[in-house]
Amino acid sequence: MDKVYALPWLRRRVEITSEPERIERYVKKKFTRSSVLMALLSAFHLSRDSILVSSDEHAAFMRGMLLKCFPAAADYPSIAVELVERLFDKAVYATCEHRVTIAPVAVRSLYVTLLETLLGAFVPPNIRDFIDSTNFSPGWRPLRVEAFMYSFRLHLPIFAPIRWLLDLGLFRQARRMRHLARKLEQMLEASAEPRPGSWLEALQHQRNAGTITEKQFRGELTAILVSTFSLASTLSFCLLCLAATPWYVGKINRDPEFAKIFLYEVLRLYPPFHQFGYRTLHDDGSEGSAEFLISALFLHRNPKHWEMPDNFYPERFQEPASHSRFRYLPFGIGARLCPGRSYSLRLLIEVLKVVCADSSPVTLMPSDRMPMATADRVISFPREGLLTFQVKPR
Ligand code: HEM
Repeated sequence: MDKVYALPWLRRRVEITSEPERIERYVKKKFTRSSVLMALLSAFHLSRDSILVSSDEHAAFMRGMLLKCFPAAADYPSIAVELVERLFDKAVYATCEHRVTIAPVAVRSLYVTLLETLLGAFVPPNIRDFIDSTNFSPGWRPLRVEAFMYSFRLHLPIFAPIRWLLDLGLFRQARRMRHLARKLEQMLEASAEPRPGSWLEALQHQRNAGTITEKQFRGELTAILVSTFSLASTLSFCLLCLAATPWYVGKINRDPEFAKIFLYEVLRLYPPFHQFGYRTLHDDGSEGSAEFLISALFLHRNPKHWEMPDNFYPERFQEPASHSRFRYLPFGIGARLCPGRSYSLRLLIEVLKVVCADSSPVTLMPSDRMPMATADRVISFPREGLLTFQVKPR
């Protein structure tokens, strides 16, 4: 999967690559987030004013604040127990067998978890009820449409009416997601209360001091929802893979180290942020003429660098050199690498341990096929993604 596009009217070359050597060559130079990706993320992200879509300087400032507010390592086991209980809620799923599309359920449960444990907000009952009653089926414009719009500069604010008409006619789900994000943003701003020392408190402080604008403040609130989607995708793939390879339940139960390699393998085969990219810079910081997009999906299945790339085989991560040389990049690379990496890995490892423990509140029913991933939107989700499970009686 290696393609080079030259867009003469942008005077820029765009290379999409899944070759570690090409990535290594590019990242030896100075680089920043790609402008194609910025345009794409601002459409997906609904805001041009959060860490994700801002300049390196602003992102570094915001990341510094965020990284100080992550939960302590010792708190993840209890966060995971609460999350699993929320996901397989006894009050919703009586003890008979259930078959559900797992991703929207994962988004609902994780969104509350991230609000409470990452943003650090007391979530009042009105917001909880709204989240519980909302269908979070992901829906954005397809990547090809975004790329087409970018090439014709339709991402610029001046073309907002055209985008509005396009969504009205063809992509109603994209419009619905934007309304939903805006509504949640407003509800959080109006009624969520910050816990002492939390990220929400730090953000409010910066806004009141005038260091960040109102728009930037609200952009970060939406960033929580966007991050929830990446994490919910991986959580859904973890559960679906576990159902398809039930022998790993016992392995993780006997040796919790297996949870880590199981998760690494899920992220290899199903990276939620399956395509991201960078723009080269000259030494003086001015823009270079190349954009390189990395297809993590193809990079992680590149047969030159992975043995039996399509097989689900977590044990491959027991080899010490398994992540080396730019062939495994689920969280990106460089200064804009995902700041939620350690939170996501810790939380998901603990969730796997809870689900595989003898005391697990749920039994996953074995499935006879591995999940399939979508690759037509910014975040990849399981196709269908039906999970069958039974909640254990107390
Ligand atoms: C399994 C879960 C996740 C995956 C695979 C993932 C992956 C990624 C990737 C590939 C990027 C782009 C990196 C780059 O351009 O170099 C990114 C950026 C980002 N992620 Fe995550 N992410 C996950 C969860 C989260 C969570 C839970 C948060 C919450 C804090 C988060 C916050 C962010 C932010 C704020 C950025 C933008 C960073 C910047 O622009 O400097 N992510 N993520």
